[in-house]
Amino acid sequence: MGFATETLAEIGPGSNSTLAFDVARVREDFPVLQQEVHGKPLTYLDSGASAQKPRAVIDAMREIQETCYANVHRGAYYFSQHLTDRYEGVRKTVAAFLNAASDQEIVFTRNVTEAINLVAHSFGNGFAAGDEVIITEMEHHANIVPWQLLRDRAGITLKVVPIAEDGSLQMEAFEAMLSPRTRLVAMTHTSNVLGTVNPMKNIIRLAHKAGARVLVDGAQSAVHGKVDVRELDADFYAFTGHKLYGPNAIGVLYGKAELLKEMPPFLGGGDMIRSVSFAETTFADPPHRFEAGTPPIVETIGLGAAIDYVNAIGHDAIAAHEAGLLAYATERLQQIEGLTIHGTAKDKAAIVSFSLDGIHPHDIGTIVDREGVAIRVGHHCAQPLMACLGVPATARASFGLYNTPSEVDVLARALEKVKDLFG
Ligand code: ALA
Repeated sequence: MGFATETLAEIGPGSNSTLAFDVARVREDFPVLQQEVHGKPLTYLDSGASAQKPRAVIDAMREIQETCYANVHRGAYYFSQHLTDRYEGVRKTVAAFLNAASDQEIVFTRNVTEAINLVAHSFGNGFAAGDEVIITEMEHHANIVPWQLLRDRAGITLKVVPIAEDGSLQMEAFEAMLSPRTRLVAMTHTSNVLGTVNPMKNIIRLAHKAGARVLVDGAQSAVHGKVDVRELDADFYAFTGHKLYGPNAIGVLYGKAELLKEMPPFLGGGDMIRSVSFAETTFADPPHRFEAGTPPIVETIGLGAAIDYVNAIGHDAIAAHEAGLLAYATERLQQIEGLTIHGTAKDKAAIVSFSLDGIHPHDIGTIVDREGVAIRVGHHCAQPLMACLGVPATARASFGLYNTPSEVDVLARALEKVKDLFG
């Protein structure tokens, strides 16, 4: 892929920022973006829910099914061994992507939800009544419910760090919550609603000082910039393929080797054992201990292709491009009278949640759809956060590497139409 440098001015307004790659060229890699919806060009602004897939990912998944499909870890024949090598090769790709010390620290899961449940079940196995887990007001349900289930099972105490008005985390409150009973801090790196990027390195340093471990929900982070688990010193870090321009049903849990080694299995079955008799079973070493059953083979290959694709463009280039989009979207949407942006923290990813005075978000979503604009409306799997914001739901535009400032304009014009209609 040859990504030339191009200014925003060449593809649309907002020319005060500089793009580090050729977005028009990148868009050609995504077949779906060439579609029309309701007779209008698709303006896809819902990458936070799930990102579109480049041809490289679609082709990689098709190629293995057409040329060498077999189950992995099980066959003595060529295809099985070949695909096992490619499957395990993706583990190395993921380890490098996160800068993990070893590919044995990379567990394949179905998604972030499963990764968090795995940690709650297996790492949380040793938690006792009175032990504390700290989460925040900005968590997705995936990082709330597993801890409530653990609370019901083990009697742990769940503490919730409040957010400030701008959607940033109240760091003093977090520090005050840490106690000798804190076993784990489970926190999102980037809020899927507010876009807030939490100061994770500092949070992890403080948690470690208090003797607690940290699980980072990186579902919205791994897509927007470089994640370095060793620099962060994260104990666990989870992300998912489908938001990273890869397939659904493949996620990743990074865990420090010393922790995974001590953790009991999550699911039992084939491939996660060393030996089985009716009397007893011994378990495989990590990461296979946590990968029971036939894994999502095709999806794992697709994830590898997605990471290669993102690496080829470059994390810094993607981050710079999205920062430009965020700045332009914020400026443009703020010009719309009656529009409130939820989440204005200084450190923010390209996610803009908003309300329009007197208009229900579902009406906003339906009307902008007629203009070909796809945004998410609802509670975004974060009902407790909606309660904190005092709204039942919001509309949300979330941007990816293929979005352009012109698409921000399309959204803004569509929102003006919504307002006209509801006069
Ligand atoms: N968690 C995804 C979102 O924020 C589905 O839309």
